[in-house]
Amino acid sequence: MLKFKVIKKDASSGARLGELETAHWKCKTPIFMPVGTQATVKTLTPEDLYEIGADIILSNTYHLYLRPGADLVEKAGGLHKFMNWKRGILTDSGGFQVFSLSKLRKITDEGVYFNSHIDGSRHFLTPQKVMEIEQKLGADIAMCFDECAPYPCTYEYAKEALRRTSLWAKICREHHKREDQALFGIVQGSIFDDLRRKSAEDIVALDFPGYAVGGLSVGEPKSEMYRILELTHTLLPEDKPRYLMGVGAPEDLVEGVKRGIDMFDCVLPTRLARHGTAFTHQGRITVRNAGFAEDFSPVDPWCDCYVCKNYSRAYIRHLIKAEEILASRLLSYHNIYFLTSLMAKIRQALAEGRFGEFYDNFFRQYKP
Ligand code: GUN
Ligand code: ZN
Repeated sequence: MLKFKVIKKDASSGARLGELETAHWKCKTPIFMPVGTQATVKTLTPEDLYEIGADIILSNTYHLYLRPGADLVEKAGGLHKFMNWKRGILTDSGGFQVFSLSKLRKITDEGVYFNSHIDGSRHFLTPQKVMEIEQKLGADIAMCFDECAPYPCTYEYAKEALRRTSLWAKICREHHKREDQALFGIVQGSIFDDLRRKSAEDIVALDFPGYAVGGLSVGEPKSEMYRILELTHTLLPEDKPRYLMGVGAPEDLVEGVKRGIDMFDCVLPTRLARHGTAFTHQGRITVRNAGFAEDFSPVDPWCDCYVCKNYSRAYIRHLIKAEEILASRLLSYHNIYFLTSLMAKIRQALAEGRFGEFYDNFFRQYKP
């Protein structure tokens, strides 16, 4: 169902080059996974994503459960068939969306009552039910149902969310039966070292084929996130993949890899694209700004993606101003390519034993 192997470790940090094999796809890690919340990576086709070099995409249990429903996706032959995606898929459990998107939630040890963000209808999700849904969706990797504490929160609140996350992880483990799907555990504990330790201990004891670090990038200072990562990766088994949830700023990918992370996902590249912002090797640029009106150079002169080889900043700015949907598509393509190729360069550096040098060079050029 899931094979993972560390091929090479960096001598002076937690970074590692790995190989990950799931039911549908085999790839090298570290990787960035583009987000296809509603069974589509917004504006891009699977063919675009193959061309970009995406290995695994992420989709959301919360959204697909509400619309079109897990039974319909199952009837279609599973998520891969439904959306015509032939490589890896990971489904997030809803443990984050239910807290960030829905109103009037009520959390108990049994599960979460919430109102749909679409039509306000009342729902109840339990770890058992989430496992049922994720198995119907049929992704290569499913995530446990967890409780992501907001930031800031009190120590007591974080402790309670951790306790529930551990309880639910055990139930998820018991109810997960699909052999062609791997179930990952999620470590919570906010920014409290002892809670992170306790959470990692609980989750690792359940022996999952992979582990995620959740509850980060929720508004805490970056220094706090890096500190928690520094601690957490030492608490997770070396021979299992580690996934940092919801993180996708270029500098955070590099810092995450340095701290032993193998997988990342984030809506950032596609969300920024829809707001007219692009990643470049020197940092972000807002293509919609007037300064680019007559700039006929590519979005990023150092990028060799299809968009940068064929279109100018001036043209894309024109599309944005004219509210043409091609603008979102071109910038989404470039932004995902940017992160995907950043990860490819990191893997290359790791393979050649020069991650430290890569790290220094990256931050000399890239201004967050
Ligand atoms: N996405 C980003 N953070 C989280 C988290 O803590 N839990 C889950 N399930 N998904 C996330
Ligand atoms: Zn490009």
